[in-house]
Amino acid sequence: MIQNWESRFSENIKVYGGYSIGKLFDLLKDPEIISLAGGLPSPDMFLKHEMRLASGQILENNLEKVMQYTAIKGEKALLDAIVEFLAKDNIRVTHENIIVTSSGQHGLDLVGRLFLDPGDTVLIDRPTFAGAIVAFQMQRPEFVGVDIEKDGSNVEGFRTKIEALEKDGRKPKFIYVVPDFQNPTGITMSLKKRIALLDLSREYGIPILEDSPYRDFRYYGETIPSIYSLDQERGGGHVIGLYTFSKLFCPGLRVGFNIAPADVIKKITNIKEGNVLNTPKYNQDMCAAFLTEMKVENHIEKCRNYYREKLEVFLKTMEECFPEEMGVTWTRPEGGLFLWVTVPEEINTHELFYDAIKYKVAFVPGDVFFGENPKVNTMRINFSFSSKEQLTEAAKRLASCIRNRLKSPSE
Ligand SMILES: Cc1ncc(COP(=O)(O)O)c(C=O)c1O
Repeated sequence: MIQNWESRFSENIKVYGGYSIGKLFDLLKDPEIISLAGGLPSPDMFLKHEMRLASGQILENNLEKVMQYTAIKGEKALLDAIVEFLAKDNIRVTHENIIVTSSGQHGLDLVGRLFLDPGDTVLIDRPTFAGAIVAFQMQRPEFVGVDIEKDGSNVEGFRTKIEALEKDGRKPKFIYVVPDFQNPTGITMSLKKRIALLDLSREYGIPILEDSPYRDFRYYGETIPSIYSLDQERGGGHVIGLYTFSKLFCPGLRVGFNIAPADVIKKITNIKEGNVLNTPKYNQDMCAAFLTEMKVENHIEKCRNYYREKLEVFLKTMEECFPEEMGVTWTRPEGGLFLWVTVPEEINTHELFYDAIKYKVAFVPGDVFFGENPKVNTMRINFSFSSKEQLTEAAKRLASCIRNRLKSPSE
């Protein structure tokens, strides 16, 4: 029997801790806990009737093909539907620019494998999506982060970091951003910054990874062009786009797609060959049906109205529960599923998490969203999953919990 398995693990995996949020979620099984922790879309927005209908048709018409291996790059029907879907967002792609993935997380993993060697640098916002950090961490890169601002990434801060790295003979492999309603802060990058980020990418030859799971979930204000489309207006070739059906349709099918220049897609296809091979045809067919038969525009509008109401309820209760003198601040997103709360510096939200469970409320401690040097007095709040009544109650519980901690900080 092999005694010391760990000594046999690869160098990359020995130091790899996985998704730390997952361990916290194990503590949330008590049904009385109102969890604002996950990033779950509301089942109220699931197209259940349409799903049953499409499923019946797919199994009826295509059972043998559904049960078979299928193309690695993706099903033609889905690729066609994606081309059309993106065209409405002013993105012009053909099949050679797309690869279907088995979720947004898979898309991130593929790109991490494509670009990163141990010790490479990746530029990220502080904070940024924890799942991206976890996906890239597999290759042991060094994360270089810059504090995000109210109007998105601090592009000048990125420039300063790039210049400092260049003096050291190093260059970041890519810049990872979530420009629309970022997970975890809900912040949206302004048009000015999107253009500035592209300028930076062009100047230094550093690709931008634009992750867009929430782009259609805009509740206020005007849509801002994607970085991908802005790049295309100027010739293209600097941006890789990451998409998922998880939030807009449903996460259960685990389907997403990456878009990029053809050479990049070719190489990602090679990686997928040795990785999951193909994404299940059934799941792809369901997503194709979603895009072509389920009145996506109506669905988007419904989701916007539904989530906007929840956000309004939650923000209103936050105003009531957290008077200014408590020193708690939060973002007011124009869309997406999250907001970001900063508590007084003496509170470590990882410790607060365990208090909060006793108050039957949960959030994600902010430290997991930092590639380095975390700000531990922060947390991510999800407002899409819980009911409006639960959101109101959760904000009240959170306020009591924080008030108590401020009274007796050493407990
Ligand atoms: C910014 C971002 N990228 C990617 C993903 C991954 O999505 P999926 O559920 O399809 O793996 C998420 C999910 O929360 C996300 O917030």
